[in-house]
Amino acid sequence: MSDTQLFIPPKPGTKKRRFIMRLLTGVRICYLSNFIEKSYSMKMGQLRLPGRKIFMPNQFELVRKILVTEADKFPKSDMLDSILKLLIGNGLFVANGPEWKRQRRLIDPAFAHAKLKRVFPAMAAAASDLLIRLDTKADGSAIGIDEEMTHITADVIFRTIFSVTLKQGEAQKLFNAFNQFQDTAFAIGFIKALNWPNVFFFKQRKAKAAAREIRSLIKPFVLDRYKRHQNGEELAENDILTSLITATDPETGEGFSLEELIDQTAFLFLAGHETSASALSWALYLIANSPDVQERMHDEAVKAFGDKEPAYEDMTKLRFVRDVFQETLRLYPPVGFLPRQATQCEHMREKPIKPGDIMMISPWLIHRHTDYWDNPDVFDPDRYADGASRESLRQAYLPFSMGPRICTGAGFAKQEAMIVLASLVRRYRFEPVADHVPDPVGRLTIRSANGIRLKVHRR
Ligand code: HEM
Repeated sequence: MSDTQLFIPPKPGTKKRRFIMRLLTGVRICYLSNFIEKSYSMKMGQLRLPGRKIFMPNQFELVRKILVTEADKFPKSDMLDSILKLLIGNGLFVANGPEWKRQRRLIDPAFAHAKLKRVFPAMAAAASDLLIRLDTKADGSAIGIDEEMTHITADVIFRTIFSVTLKQGEAQKLFNAFNQFQDTAFAIGFIKALNWPNVFFFKQRKAKAAAREIRSLIKPFVLDRYKRHQNGEELAENDILTSLITATDPETGEGFSLEELIDQTAFLFLAGHETSASALSWALYLIANSPDVQERMHDEAVKAFGDKEPAYEDMTKLRFVRDVFQETLRLYPPVGFLPRQATQCEHMREKPIKPGDIMMISPWLIHRHTDYWDNPDVFDPDRYADGASRESLRQAYLPFSMGPRICTGAGFAKQEAMIVLASLVRRYRFEPVADHVPDPVGRLTIRSANGIRLKVHRR
């Protein structure tokens, strides 16, 4: 740990009854507020809710068994399906077994399009547009940094999937619609997974409207390109969408249907921007409260880029920026829970597990677990310099999951984060806003219920 000022960022309260009260009342359901102090040292916890058993294994051997070595016995839980269906249909993220394998065969070639060197110019151009937007706001007044981060990350995904840039009005719409979707769909999905009757009709309507709004941003691009392809037109755009439209399954010779294409692009859009937006917002909040860290990042960025535009080759010079991002993903893993479902009877830590029980692996808990991390709640990007933390990284660090369902966009996300963070700290200084303390809530991603507001000063 460095001897400079260390920051302990906000963590939700640990009052046991809050979660059940929220489930019953439907008020801002957040799985993080269910954790009690003991959750952060338990080897395996159990969430005692009527309807369905939910276990929370934190012990590394159990986590590996569920996610890696016996992953086929623990498919993705139907909880995810209930939460996400409105938005991404039966897309890759929620599919299991042979259907997941079929979708991967079609999607994997699209990821060849997301090769890091190839997408670098799109990322750098989006970062440069972000600076133009922020220049008009960098006068020391407080701004909603989470909205800005949603705009840049959605823009990067628009440029790489569709070869178009995202407009200001669309970014705003998206931010609001996704907030609404998180608020409502998570509650409905949770209740469904517990086999409780759905009493949140009003939320269901809102979730549907939000999903429609998000899909309506994507659909016209897919439709236009799909029709051109069906009419035998040679597609000039060399991007992820063209790759998805032209992909055929080597086993069956079939491609994606139009509906499936919309589901898959909606999923890639969601997976590719919301997670990164969450991580970047928290990263900026953390460094705004750690001035020494921010200065070191600034110095590194100035040294790496000089007064030029960022280049692909500069990425390897940003080691400290990389550690800051790594530490951000530890404290605020955007995907804070990975629900799996048992398919057979067994025992774990002497507890009987039955088919249908949910095994909720939580990167949030594991990343702050006292068995694995020293001073787990402290923001300390220097912790990775010593050998002990390198072991923790190997054993207890899974912001991108692990095993066959590991995030295929991890390299993309890291590169994007390094370009954006280094470009921002080179040009601006971020400062906290007095009396504004973010309130972390865990739903689909970990966001702040009251936003993340920071003051931005041009250097
Ligand atoms: C900081 C940013 C990101 C984080 C923290 C993140 C995290 C994750 C996690 C935890 C999973 C697995 C969930 C599970 O096991 O249940 C996942 C899956 C996935 N992610 Fe990411 N992700 C990020 C960015 C991206 C980006 C930028 C893309 C695409 C451009 C992407 C594409 C995917 C895909 C395609 C899957 C599904 C893989 C499969 O099931 O076969 N992700 N991500």
